[in-house]
Formats: sequence, structure tokens, C-alpha cells
Amino acid sequence: MKKRFYITTPIYYPSAKLHIGHAYCTTLTDVFARYKRLRGFECFFLTGADEHGQKIEKNAAAAGKTPQEFVDGIVEGFYKLWDLLHISNNDFIRTTQERHVKVVQDIFSKMLANDDIYLGKYKGWYCKECEAFWTDTQAGPDHICPDCGRPVQTAEEEAYFFKTSKYVDRLMKFFDENPKFLVPESRKNEMINTFIKPGLEDLCVSRTSFSWGIPIRENPKHVIYVWLDALTNYITALGYDSEHPENFEKFWQDPESETIHILGADITRFHAIYWPMFLMSLGVRLPDREFVHGLLMMKDSKMSKSKGNVVDPYPLVERYGVDAVRYYLAREVSFGSDGNFTPEQFVERINTDLANALGNLLNRTVSMINKYFDGVVPEYKGRINDVDGNLEDLTKLTIESYERLMDDLKITDAITQVNELVNRANKYIDETEPWALAKDPEKKANLESVMLHLTNSIYVAGMLLKPVLVTASDKLFEQLGVTGDLLNYDNIYKYGVTGGLKVEKKDQLFPRLDAAVEVQYIQDIMAGNIK
Ligand code: MSP
Repeated sequence: MKKRFYITTPIYYPSAKLHIGHAYCTTLTDVFARYKRLRGFECFFLTGADEHGQKIEKNAAAAGKTPQEFVDGIVEGFYKLWDLLHISNNDFIRTTQERHVKVVQDIFSKMLANDDIYLGKYKGWYCKECEAFWTDTQAGPDHICPDCGRPVQTAEEEAYFFKTSKYVDRLMKFFDENPKFLVPESRKNEMINTFIKPGLEDLCVSRTSFSWGIPIRENPKHVIYVWLDALTNYITALGYDSEHPENFEKFWQDPESETIHILGADITRFHAIYWPMFLMSLGVRLPDREFVHGLLMMKDSKMSKSKGNVVDPYPLVERYGVDAVRYYLAREVSFGSDGNFTPEQFVERINTDLANALGNLLNRTVSMINKYFDGVVPEYKGRINDVDGNLEDLTKLTIESYERLMDDLKITDAITQVNELVNRANKYIDETEPWALAKDPEKKANLESVMLHLTNSIYVAGMLLKPVLVTASDKLFEQLGVTGDLLNYDNIYKYGVTGGLKVEKKDQLFPRLDAAVEVQYIQDIMAGNIK
């Protein structure tokens, strides 16, 4: 089994502040990275900012700033958000950094020298006012500029093209031979049917209509197309083509390392078709997996500033804490499918799973151990009856299915399994009625066993949720008295290790939220009244 891996998020455009959709992608990637580290893998986790392009040039001008000043300000906000969400990335790449610019220019030169890039003519729709070229789809049937709404004219400009035709067969073969490369599977079929089968045109990889980009060394009036610039971040950050290629060799080229890109469905085409072709052209190994997640929408519509329904993650984390927001993101919308954000579901999810189920289980258990056993968890004495045996079996099964699902990036399903264990353990308290056992001295062994099984399931649930509940899992362990070696993941396989722990009652892990008040609060965030 591979013991090293490299995982990336898309690099986000600093054209505006990040919203909850971006936080969704980065948080879920972080959950996976933390899970693998917990399992003993050496991980390199990359995120960053995609800073070039016409839109950024325009937004900067509108804000009266240079593009660099403009992106510097917005990227500060990225750092702040990832800090708030406890994102454990190992590096943060900005495409304006020298390490990136130089390599993108080298890559372009290499492709030009290989004859994979050639100079041709770009035909498209041109808007004189915006000085922008648009494709057929962008101009639409009425031939209107998507930015200013004025009519556009057909025009031609000199441009460089990447020869996709040269690589299309190799790409199809690669898809065939690597069925796990692009998941979910439906995304692969969509790529083949929508883009490849109808015939892929050569890709235009330069622009002359704006200047905020990386200039082509051989012909500096052109800047390199933002996607060729952006995609290569995944290897420039590792030191590809630099004086320090160690991480590139270790995390990308070495077949002992697994490489995984996480991305949203909106950018699948660039990652699944062009990126592999660019890598083939450079003679670099292709990534092992691309996992396409769905988009988080507002009820029935896309998030958009003009509709006043953008969820700003900053005030959300500030009010509800990092654990609640991370848990909501990981648990609510199945990773890989589209989903909706609603304030009601947000509050409901936290109350049901965290306050009522997990928090309550811990609280009840610690109180009972204090009351019946002076705060010391009784030792494990084996299977003494079927009820206890069932909880033991379920705990072991939960670990197995959690790991299988997590390894497949089915993060939501994996978390759901843990949630079911927690629910089962709560029910087990009602079934075993420890308060009744405590009244009968002959049932002491039963009572001991119940407390041990409860603490063991909380211990396992706490460990499995550690990648999500980055601060609450430590608080949970503190209350259970889990320290030292037991903080290592591998101990969850040893059933009964919680015997002898000294528990300590502390504050509720997750106080119950007042639904009416909090739904209103989140609506205020969405309306932009709280920042
Ligand atoms: N800069 C490019 C990516 C280059 S990667 C080499 C880009 N940036 S972006 O800022 O628009 O962010 C894209 C990613 O953010 C999406 O692929 C997705 O992962 C995430 N999301 C943006 N909006 C989202 C939602 N509404 N819901 C879920 N994820 C969303 O495209």
C-alpha cells in the first residue's frame, strides 16, 4: 500500500472574497488529508490562488488598484479563512510568485519546441468596448458580449494553440486503463460524450487582449492562457523544473506516492482533458485520481451576490466555531453530489448530531462513571452478554466501513457511519438502563461492562471524527481521560483499551442552538448585515 500522498484543491480566483462553496472544497480536502495523516501517511497538501486573467485585471481597475495590490488584499482573506477553518495545507501557491512564473514560461517554451504548441489565428467574437474575445457559446445566439451586453463582431487575432489532436487517443486509452482516475464515474462519461466524441478542437493557449498574465518569453505581446498557467501550479509548487525538485520526485513522480486532485464539477473539463494532455506533452506522470465534488447551492438557485444569498464563511465560523462548520460541510452534502445550504438545516444538523447525539452521549457517560465508579472506567472483561456484544461488533464494523469509505473519498458516508454508532450507543444506554443496574449489587459486573462499552464507543467515535472535529475531539478525549499512546489511531483496533481511564466532567462539547435565533442570525449573514 502507498504510504505517501499528494492532495490538492483548485487554486481559487482572488477576484472576490471566498464563499462557503470554496470553504466546502477546501474543508473536505483537509478532512481527507488529516485522515490519511492519522493513518500514518506522509502527506503534502496544497492549496493556493489563481491570480492572473482578465477578470482580475478588470476588478482591480474598478477598485482603483493595480492587479497585484488587488490580489494581495484578497489573498490575505484566504489565509485568514483557512486559519479559521484549521486547514492543514503544507504550502500555499500564488501564481504570481516567481517560482511559478519562471516554470510556466519554461513549460511553454518546451511545448513550443516539441511542436505541441503552434502559432495560428484565433477566430471568435470580439467586443470593441471591452476589448475581449468571446467564443460562440459565450456570445450566444444573439452575439452579445456577456460582460457589457453590446453586440460583438467576428474577428481574428494571432494566437498560440495546443495540439489536443495529438493526445486524444492516448487520453482515451488512459481513461480505459485507469477506471479510478476520474470519479464519480458519471463525470468521465460526461467528458467523453460532451467534449471528446463531438471532436476536440486545438486549445487556444495565449491571449493578446489583456496583459495581466505571464508573458510568453518568445513573443511577449502574448500572455499565457490562464488555465495553462493555473493547472501547472500542481507541479510548480512541488519544485518541478527548479533547483529543488525533491518534493516533485517524492510526491509526484514516485509511483509509491498517490496524487489526488479535488475539484468542483465546474472545472472538470480542464482537469480531466487538458491537464493530462499537458502532462503527456511534458513527459510527466499523470495524477492517480481526480475526485469531482458537486456544487453547494442555495435552495433552488446558485449562490450569487445580486440575489443576496451568498453565505460568507467567516462570520459563520466566528459564531458557531470551527468544529460545527466543518462537521456541517462534511456531513450534510454527500461529497460528489450537489446539495443545498439552508440555515434551518445547518442549525438542525448541529443540534441533532453534535449537541444531542455526540455531546449528550459523552455527558451522560462521564456523569455515570463519576457517580457509579468514582470517575474510573471499569476494565474490559470480554463479552458478557449479547447486548454488549452487539455494541462491540458494531464498533468494530464501524471502523472497517469508515476506513473503506474514507479511502474512496466517500467522506459524508464515512461520517454517517460514525454518527450511527453514536446513535446506537445512546440507544444502548436506554436499553441497558444503568440506573436500574446500579440499584442491584448482583448486577455490578453488568454495570461495569456497560460503562466500558460506552467509553470504548465514544473513544472510537472521537478518533474517527478527529479529521473533522479538529478541536472538539481533543476536548472529548480530555473528558474521557484519553492521553499518551491512546491518542494514536491504531489503538482503536484494540477493543477495551478505555478500561482504567480517569474521566473528568467539563463543559458541554456542543451547546444546543436556539433554532429561531440562529436561523435569523444566518439569514442576516446571507443578507450581508453581519460580516
Ligand atoms: N481558478 C480556477 C481553478 C484553477 S485550478 C488549477 C477556479 N477558481 S474558482 O475560484 O472559481 O474556484 C473553483 C472551485 O471552487 C470549484 O471547482 C469548486 O471546487 C469550488 N467552488 C466554487 N463555488 C462552489 C460552490 N457553490 N459549491 C461548491 N464548490 C464551489 O475555477
